[in-house]
This record gives sequence, C-alpha cells and structure tokens, in this order.
Amino acid sequence: METRKDEDSESIYMNVDDNGANHSEVYENFFADTATPKAGSQAVSEGKQVRSGRPAAVCLGLLCVLLLAVIMGLSTKHNAEKEQLWNRFNNVTMERDQLQASFDNLTIERDGLQRQLSNIEILCPHGWRRFKSSCYYVSHNINTWDHGRQDCRGKEADLVIITSREEQTFVSGLASNFWIGLTDRDRLRQWKWVDGTLPISGYWMRGEPNYYTYWNSGTFIHENCVQVASNGYDPLFNWKKVRCDRLHTWICEKMTRCVIKYINVKEEKKSLSQTVLSLKVERETLLSSIRNLTEERDQLKSSYQNLTKERDQMNKTMNELKDKLMSADNVTEMFNVEGWKKFGSRYYYFSTEEKSWNKSRQDCIERGADLVIINSREEQEFIKKGSRDVWIGLSDEEREGEWKWVDGSALTTTFWKSGEPNDFQRGEDCAVFLLCSLPLRTWNDLPCTHSVAWVCESTKRPA
Ligand code: BGC
Ligand code: CA
Repeated sequence: METRKDEDSESIYMNVDDNGANHSEVYENFFADTATPKAGSQAVSEGKQVRSGRPAAVCLGLLCVLLLAVIMGLSTKHNAEKEQLWNRFNNVTMERDQLQASFDNLTIERDGLQRQLSNIEILCPHGWRRFKSSCYYVSHNINTWDHGRQDCRGKEADLVIITSREEQTFVSGLASNFWIGLTDRDRLRQWKWVDGTLPISGYWMRGEPNYYTYWNSGTFIHENCVQVASNGYDPLFNWKKVRCDRLHTWICEKMTRCVIKYINVKEEKKSLSQTVLSLKVERETLLSSIRNLTEERDQLKSSYQNLTKERDQMNKTMNELKDKLMSADNVTEMFNVEGWKKFGSRYYYFSTEEKSWNKSRQDCIERGADLVIINSREEQEFIKKGSRDVWIGLSDEEREGEWKWVDGSALTTTFWKSGEPNDFQRGEDCAVFLLCSLPLRTWNDLPCTHSVAWVCESTKRPA
C-alpha cells in the first residue's frame, strides 16, 4: 500500500517535474527573450518584454492550478487512507477485546477443570504399573502371542501398543523378551497394532524386519509377531519379528481408571463434623444463658411487682398522713374574710342566711365558688364541725335516683343518714347535711325549695 502510494506520489512528482521542465523551458525562453534587447531601440525592446511576459504568467497560473489540483487529490487520498486505517484499527481493537474476553473465559474454565482434576485420582489395578494414562501388566509365565493376547483380553486389556518414544523406553524397562501387540498376520509385511492402527515408526533391531521364512512340513512358516528383546539392546532398537508360536512373556495395556478422590470429601466431612460439634456446644451455651436470663427476668418481674405494691402502699399511707396532717393542722385556721374557713388547700363559706337549694347555689357562684362537694371522710368531718344544717352541692333533680355533684361528677363516697335518700312524697331532689346525726350518716334528701343554710367551697382564696 505504502509502496504504491510512494509510486503514486513519485509519478505525480514526475508529472510535476515534467511540467517543471516545460516551465524551465518557458523560463529559459523568457530569459532568452528578455536577454536580447541588444539590437533596436529601448522602447521596442520594452514592448517585446511585455508581450513575452504574458504567456509566462499564464503558464505560471496553470502550473499553480495544476499544483492545487494535485495537492487536493493527494489530500483526499490521504484522508481516505486515514479512514481505512482507522476502521482497521477499530476492527483490530474489537477483535482484540473479543479475544481477551474468550481468553478470560477459558482461564476460568481451565481453573475449574484444574480444581476438578485435583479431586480425581488416576488408578491402575493391583499388580499393574502406570505410565501416563495407561496401565501395564507383565505376565508371570511365557506363552505364544495368541495366548498372551487372550490373557490380556481376559483382563479387559490387550497386548501393549507403543505409540511414543517415551512409552517404548518405559515398556522396554518392564521385562525382557516379551510380546507386544504388533503383527502382520492379516497381510504380510503390513504391520498393524492389535487395535487396527498402523505404527508410525518402529523400534526395530538392526536388520529387522528381515522376513525370514521357514519351510516346515510342506508349508511356509512366517514370522508374523513382534517380540521385544530388551536385555542388552538399545531400548530404541529392540523389536524383533519372530514366529507367533514361540513362547515369551507378554505385556498387556489398558487405560487407567479415574476415581474421584474421596480424601478431600472425607477431610471436608471431618471439618464439617467439627464445626457441627462446636456449633452444638455454642447452642448449648446460648440455651443455658437464655435460661439464666429468663430466670433473672422472672425474678426482676416479681421484684418489680413487689416494689409496685410497696410503692402503692406507701402512696396510700402518704396520702392518709397528708389528710390527717391537713385535718389536724388546718381545721383551726381562720380567715379574716367573714364567714370563710380554710380546710386543706380549699376555702369554705358557711352561710348565716337560709335559702332554697338553687338560690344558695347562686350565692356560692357569685362568691366565685359552688356548693360544697364532699370527697373524703376528712372533709365530711370538717363540715360536721359547722353550727347548722346546710345544703351541699348534691341533687337528683335531672333524673330521679341519679345523684350528681354540682361539677357533674357521679357520687362515689356517701354519708347518707340511714333510710335516706327516700324521696319522701316524691318531692325530695336536693341533699342536706344534718348536724344532729351520726358523724358519718348526716345526709338527707329534702325538697329543693326548702330554706336551709348552705356551705360553699372554692379552690381560690376569697377576696
Ligand atoms: C323523714 C325524712 C324527710 C323529712 C321531711 C322525716 O320524717 O324521715 O326522710 O325528708 O321527714 O321533712
Ligand atoms: Ca328525705
């Protein structure tokens, strides 16, 4: 390609040169013309110069155009070649990448096979010798070639077939004077192995095969079988053709047997058993710590329950003590606000007037309070210390028999007088606190319209 390009370039240059030659002629003419103003006047000579200069300029112009064309042509060709080379480069890169990929795949495959191979053991039966992928057996007695072959076949083998120099050397070292699986019995002088293949080259002794023929009892007896005579002979020149009915030892050959090695598997099994054992131990340890943790959790649960009970008991005791403290210390606390008393954290107004339940309640509300709600025995005992019967903030006006405090809460702790509430003559819906009763049995229901004194209760300190 490059050569052709060079040639092309050369031919182009030659053309250019040709043109150049023409031009040099033009120049020569030009200079010849301009060099002649020897005869005639100066004006004539100048006119001649102008006339002879025009064709030269035209020629120069043409030359330039031609050169331009050549350069353009070369540049186009160069670009095309560049593109071709680029394409080829791309193709080669792609090919290289594909090859790299298949190389990688093959490497992986090879590694896999090698791993498999490491688990395969090539074996020969007991009493056989291994060489490469074959097993060899040397007979213990001597017999004819046919008998030897029969014996080999009985061993799922055949008489040895030698296919390489290495095998020849190996087999020669196994015994001396033995049959090999080579014969020309089918066709005289055409030596064939017992598997029907032809030997590529033999390892004959010098002078062999010599095709000596016996004449015996009116028939020709040929030497159709091959005996290896290794003793004292060069192992690469020790084949000798002999009569097949001679007696020799023989060597059988068969393929090796491939067995998957169980050694690795066994080792793996052993290590797995150990792992299982240690996992079992670990599991036992874990189970035992789970048991311990469960016990601990149960103990903690039980002591938590005990502590909760203890706490509740203590809370109860504390509340009782608080209430006792309140009733002991604060009962006597008086205010200078007329009619008000303090008990615990609350303030109580004891009226001197008497009004209906609703009006009494109205009075309490105007004082920023409401009729008293009695929630505890202590509070009940505090109201008992008053000097008159009073309305308390309890009624069943909304629904007969459903007693409610003025804040809407239901009645839980009660201090009714025995036999009350009886809704006497079906007209009693408001509760009154009777002083002349047993301390914890003071409530009675009365008609709400009765005029009774009252007690207000407030959480706010009265002004
Ligand atoms: C009854 C009360 C009743 C009252 C009315 C008493 O004799 O025992 O239950 O509320 O009379 O005045
Ligand atoms: Ca009553």
